[in-house]
Amino acid sequence: MAQENASNCIYLATFLIIFLTIISSSSAWVGVNWGTMTTHQLPPKKVVKMLKDNGFRKLKLFDADDTILTALMGTDIEVMVAIPNVMLSKISNSPMDADSWVYENVTAYLFRGGVNIKYVAVGNEPFLKAYNGSYLNKTLPALKNIQTSLNNAGLESKVKVTVPFNADIYYSPDSNPVPSAGDFRPELRDITIEIVQFLYSTNSTFTVNIYPFLSLYYGQDNFPFDFAFFDGKNEPLRDGKAVYNNVFDANLDTLMWALEKAGYPDLHVTVGEVGWPTDGDKNANAKNAKRFNQGFIKHALRGNGTPKRKGMMDFYLFSLIDENDKSVAPGNFERHWGIYEFDGKPKYELDIRGNHKEKGLVSVEGIKYLEKKWCVLDPEATDLDDLGKNVDYACSHSDCTALGYGCSCSNLNVQGNASYAFNMYYQVNDQMDWDCDFSGLAMVTHEDPSENGCNFPLMVASGSRAGLSKILMKAMEVYFFAMLLL
Ligand SMILES: *[C@@H]1O[C@H](CO)[C@@H](O)[C@H](O)[C@H]1NC(C)=O
Ligand SMILES: *[C@@H]1O[C@H](CO)[C@@H](O)[C@H](O)[C@H]1NC(C)=O
Ligand SMILES: *[C@@H]1O[C@H](CO)[C@@H](O)[C@H](O)[C@H]1NC(C)=O
Ligand SMILES: *[C@@H]1O[C@H](CO)[C@@H](O)[C@H](O)[C@H]1NC(C)=O
Ligand SMILES: *[C@@H]1O[C@H](CO)[C@@H](O)[C@H](O)[C@H]1NC(C)=O
Repeated sequence: MAQENASNCIYLATFLIIFLTIISSSSAWVGVNWGTMTTHQLPPKKVVKMLKDNGFRKLKLFDADDTILTALMGTDIEVMVAIPNVMLSKISNSPMDADSWVYENVTAYLFRGGVNIKYVAVGNEPFLKAYNGSYLNKTLPALKNIQTSLNNAGLESKVKVTVPFNADIYYSPDSNPVPSAGDFRPELRDITIEIVQFLYSTNSTFTVNIYPFLSLYYGQDNFPFDFAFFDGKNEPLRDGKAVYNNVFDANLDTLMWALEKAGYPDLHVTVGEVGWPTDGDKNANAKNAKRFNQGFIKHALRGNGTPKRKGMMDFYLFSLIDENDKSVAPGNFERHWGIYEFDGKPKYELDIRGNHKEKGLVSVEGIKYLEKKWCVLDPEATDLDDLGKNVDYACSHSDCTALGYGCSCSNLNVQGNASYAFNMYYQVNDQMDWDCDFSGLAMVTHEDPSENGCNFPLMVASGSRAGLSKILMKAMEVYFFAMLLL
């Protein structure tokens, strides 16, 4: 009898454990950032269908683009919309501007069959050193104004505010480089802790972007390569009883310690951006990106958390699709963070459920390309004096980030480089005849010049208004030029 009770108990306990595991893991979904700094945007409706087909359930945007939000209507994808840094000043100064931002970009989508907006990101990495402190005094007032506007709209329990921060607002000293020595940087400490207090008081989340790729990139050959990944064989970092096998956990726990020292050890934390680029640097390729992203997803969905913060992690991969119009100031890799190519094809297989059952990612369907023609250096061209100038021009108005050392097209010779540059310029400008000239050095070919690993892309046919207005502008230019000649 007693034995039967005991086995019933075990049975019940097992059942409960399985049941609780299912419940606690049901909130674990892979989120993803969708940035749109591209010359040729994919149709939002088709991208949203791809998100649904793949089972992406959480999406982070960098603004509140109407065409994207409209495409998201009627889906249950949880969305973080954002206020770009350039709007912080205005919104920090004017509660009315905050009200209209919330009205136009949040409230307007919150109807039955509308958009599941869950967060408003106020600014994007506003404390980045590159901004010279311009947003230091704007971020918190803007955050407070947006919160007040949400309260006025009766949305405070449905929509939360947050600020995505760059990870170098906190650090651990070189003399003791372990997470437990972590704190916010002295010059940012007070203002950051005020924001932390505010986020805590509204039961919101602290958002941070963490990039092991950048640790490797800036650390160069001093950084232990394997420590950037989740399956590395390097010597672990020991911090008291805590053992770190990857730099991501060590970085995140440096923040956890900084929060603890500030008196907020249990503030919820979201990883706003995490990912790995595939071109534009010697360590940026599909093999490393897949190793990192797959390792991270498994790690995050396993639910063990970090040594200092147990449990499931909320995170958004960076990013969904390559952005060929991003600034390359941080490095040439900036245009290659996508898990998808510019044309909506996945770059590598990625199991985003972490359960090994799913096959590769589904493409964006129904994408049309420009005609199969490329612009290359004319092999008959003899006067090459101006070649360098023309290549520089083509590159500065398009994207040559695949040409550098260790990149996908680094094997090209001088002629190949020129062809690559000419073609990128030609494609980005929608294959207009007059854009394949370059002082008579260039010619159009119908033979694909791509070779082993180096792709000469055909742009997607956007048919967007942007494309049309570009053609009109060009036509006007030609017209005015002709008038001048008369
Ligand atoms: C809403 O968001 C869009 C896109 O980010 C922006 O252009 C617009 O100014 C915002 N609306 C208001 C009223 O601020
Ligand atoms: C920050 O300062 C540097 C050097 O003074 C300058 O080149 C840069 O344009 C400034 N950036 C911003 C966003 O003001
Ligand atoms: C921010 O405000 C503080 C005090 O209110 C002031 O000392 C500081 O100069 C301001 N910083 C900027 C960049 O405006
Ligand atoms: C705070 O937010 C979390 C979700 O992020 C929720 O589970 C919890 O109930 C909230 N707490 C309060 C006091 O509203
Ligand atoms: C091709 O262009 C890249 C980027 O500008 C440059 O680093 C490389 O040296 C060039 N290769 C040749 C052979 O000129």
